[in-house]
Amino acid sequence: MQAETLVQMKHVRKEFPGVTALSDMSFDIRAGEVHVLLGENGAGKSTLMKILSGVYTPTSGSIVVDGKAYKNLTPHDADRLGIRVIYQELSVIPTLSIRENLFVDRLPIKKHGPFHTVDHDEMQRRAEGLLEKVGLRRDARTLVEDLSISEKQQVEIAKALAVDSRVIVMDEPTASLTHEEVRHLFDVIRALKAQGKGIVFISHKLGEIMEIGDCVTVLKDGANVGTHAVSDVTADDLVTMMVGRQIRKNYQDENTPDSFEQEEVLFEVQGLTRRDGKAKNVSFRLHKGEILGFAGLVGAGRSELMDAVFGAAPKQSGRIFLHGKEIRTKSPYRAIRHSLAMVTENRRETGFFQNFDIKENISLISFLKTARGGGTLGLIDRRFERECAERQRKALRIKCASIDQLVAELSGGNQQKVILGRWLAAQSEILIFDEPTKGIDVGSKAEIYALMRGLADSGKGVLVVSSELPELLAVCDTIAVYREGEIVRTFSHRDATEEKIMLAATADGAE
Ligand SMILES: Nc1ncnc2c1ncn2[C@@H]1O[C@H](COP(=O)(O)OP(=O)(O)OP(=O)(O)O)[C@@H](O)[C@H]1O
Ligand SMILES: [Mg+2]
Repeated sequence: MQAETLVQMKHVRKEFPGVTALSDMSFDIRAGEVHVLLGENGAGKSTLMKILSGVYTPTSGSIVVDGKAYKNLTPHDADRLGIRVIYQELSVIPTLSIRENLFVDRLPIKKHGPFHTVDHDEMQRRAEGLLEKVGLRRDARTLVEDLSISEKQQVEIAKALAVDSRVIVMDEPTASLTHEEVRHLFDVIRALKAQGKGIVFISHKLGEIMEIGDCVTVLKDGANVGTHAVSDVTADDLVTMMVGRQIRKNYQDENTPDSFEQEEVLFEVQGLTRRDGKAKNVSFRLHKGEILGFAGLVGAGRSELMDAVFGAAPKQSGRIFLHGKEIRTKSPYRAIRHSLAMVTENRRETGFFQNFDIKENISLISFLKTARGGGTLGLIDRRFERECAERQRKALRIKCASIDQLVAELSGGNQQKVILGRWLAAQSEILIFDEPTKGIDVGSKAEIYALMRGLADSGKGVLVVSSELPELLAVCDTIAVYREGEIVRTFSHRDATEEKIMLAATADGAE
């Protein structure tokens, strides 16, 4: 049985100065179906959805809704036609309450003769109904800034329901969600499907796609290279379609030892305790050639530990050694001077500088470290800057028109690559990667893992914090399981499995 087609995008083309984001893209959305959009970073997924919501005007092509063809949609059209896009960067307003966010553009009004006021009781009543539907257990008067990322997302979904949308697009909704939160989101999606909504779901996580998708369209260089029923393809098929080849699954060396105890110690943390108690007496050693990973539930405090190591949070006690020599990391600046690097988890807040271009973002730390080109005099060696940035652009295959482009214009995954490039360019001794591949496509992930292995092989220290167990299992030699501010167990990659790690991360009384 063929479901009703809600939207057809036909031969859509979109050019930006110097870049063709979409060359010829056709795509349908049907009622009661989850249509997955899959493609490499910069393939054009977000751009296509921004055309659907009227944020961008296509260069050519058409959009058919309810049998009527449009050259382009305005945001107002999209709204009127019941199309709602939840962007990669959420767009709720933090300083307003949940209910104000839900009804910001259509407040219920109460009339008192000539006076009109907002009908708060009505707003509260309707908001409660919507929150119930998406399963958000919060008072509708709570300020949105007090919510977690997943709760903000639930507000976005509730907002889509508030206007009775027929098409709901979710652009990488699970990138920052915990395992539990993803389960919950999927329940909500299934309920929406059952009500006949058309859902577009964008994600780089193949497991999720196989679970929640009904059909999947693979985008490559701005064109549709195939639409398939999810039941007709395997995750490996999808990788091949998207990347054009199979990818390696493991990045451990053939002859790595079971234990690195005998190897030279590159980096050591002894009894580190944070002043706020978020890390308690943590000790670990990183050996030459070893990649050490930190597993744990989101919120276990792994980022907090790394912040303290890197000098971004005050320490109560603890000592840090690099090549056997004690170093003091009182601030990130000191840590960088001691040749530590940290790729942070949250690219919007601590990652890159919006108003800087790609080359400036990449060469920033190298300047800070080497004070090349005059340092305090403020002179910048432009040639060094270009060379440094070009090297990383090639190594990481950053998709951009040129390195003079603003980072804000890059696709989500390519922004993350710029941050990686910055720290790789700094040629640090110890690199801490905190959720390094958030938003990065499977092909590029593989390249980044190979790169990490190359760093370890060349004598650099590599520490990885990740909530994606397949990632830790693919790349780490040793995996420390972290829970409530402490390391509770350590596995060699040979005897680590997802099950064992999950158990250690959650169970009480693990060793
Ligand atoms: N406002 C803009 N100005 C210039 N170029 C842009 C703009 N927005 C997007 N692009 C370019 O269009 C291309 C497609 O970007 P898009 O954000 O659609 O990719 P994506 O498939 O969503 O990737 P990702 O998986 O990394 O999120 C990229 O090369 C990007 O740099
Ligand atoms: Mg995107």
